[in-house]
Amino acid sequence: MTVTDWQTIEAPDEGCANRFPLSVAGACDEGFVVRFHSGLFAYINRCPHNGSPLDWVPERFFSEDGELLVCQTHGALFAPGSGACLAGPCPRGLSVLPLREEGGRLYVPAGIDNPTG
Ligand code: FES
Repeated sequence: MTVTDWQTIEAPDEGCANRFPLSVAGACDEGFVVRFHSGLFAYINRCPHNGSPLDWVPERFFSEDGELLVCQTHGALFAPGSGACLAGPCPRGLSVLPLREEGGRLYVPAGIDNPTG
């Protein structure tokens, strides 16, 4: 995966998520970043089961106990710190996106060339 462009977004609070627009090989898509146990992690907002966004309830990504990410469509569960599929019909984990913090700002991709490469 090569990042073709970067953007800055607001960093989420602990246990919360922020979505952002993302171009994947020129097609409109969406990413999200979560703060979990003080770390920041970003993923493409696309469930590997059938490709729907995880949060059909906008920005509700976490389980009730705040320990897992949940696909709201069929209930797949993912590890917030790695995107690994832990339960449900997901054939693999979430697609991880790079991020970086510089000068107190959070940078996430605005565009990538390939979600798996
Ligand atoms: S679309 Fe996510 S579990 Fe089915």
